[in-house]
Amino acid sequence: MNRNLYFELSDHTGIRRALATYGYCVVRQVIGPDRVQQFKDEIDRLLDPDRSLPPASSKYHLAFAEECAAMWDLVDDAAYMNLRYALIGDHNICLHRSAAILRTAGEPMGGWHSDHCGRVKGPKKHANDFLNVYSFESGAWFYLNGSHPERSGIAVLEYSHTDDWSAPEGFHLDEERRYIYRNDQDEKLGSYNQLDIPGAVPVVSDPGDMILFSALTYHVNMATNERRYTCAAGFRPKSIKLDVPWALPASALRMIERLPTRHLPFTEGYTSIDPDWKP
Ligand SMILES: [Fe+2]
Repeated sequence: MNRNLYFELSDHTGIRRALATYGYCVVRQVIGPDRVQQFKDEIDRLLDPDRSLPPASSKYHLAFAEECAAMWDLVDDAAYMNLRYALIGDHNICLHRSAAILRTAGEPMGGWHSDHCGRVKGPKKHANDFLNVYSFESGAWFYLNGSHPERSGIAVLEYSHTDDWSAPEGFHLDEERRYIYRNDQDEKLGSYNQLDIPGAVPVVSDPGDMILFSALTYHVNMATNERRYTCAAGFRPKSIKLDVPWALPASALRMIERLPTRHLPFTEGYTSIDPDWKP
């Protein structure tokens, strides 16, 4: 099949069509090499300032935009924001959440999952149950080393972004549709963690590209063979008002104090996250 999954930043129609059809795509060279290096330096500064993160491990920052001023430069990038507006279908948007991930060589492949918590049953148990329940794209990630199956990066399950998608033969989902298991595996070991599942596509991208995937798309981080840097920011329409059970943390208040006036509208409705929140 002749398909295109790589787009220029201005090709809103192509990007939206690919997300609707395949559940993912790559936007070429959204940021330049200087910005890539700047984000990597910021991730080092925040997550591993003394370079002591051991091999085969990972570390997350779950509110990256609160500490990384450079993320806010993206808001001044009209071409970047025009795509975000087009994907959300609204110009009146605020920061929803942001993240950075640092992984070191030797980290094995993760388990197949969807970030979407909209089918979680019973009372909310985690901050993600409040934040990851909308239909706008789940990932708008800068894989700052690029993504490649031989080095590290992300793999997605094509066509897995629709509500009625079911796991390929020999596999099944948990009842909340967050994880994929092979029928004969021990589920206590976590969701399935190999690339040989039908529909799996190891995404190949360059540093500076942005990898987009839909709200429901199943994905996995591939085995990491280098020091790997990733970051992202997500926005949501302000018409979605969130009522979260945690208070805005001091880091978010400091960010709001620091930001120039022109960026403040993007903080209206921002909730930050309390990853340790429990009911
Ligand atoms: Fe994920």
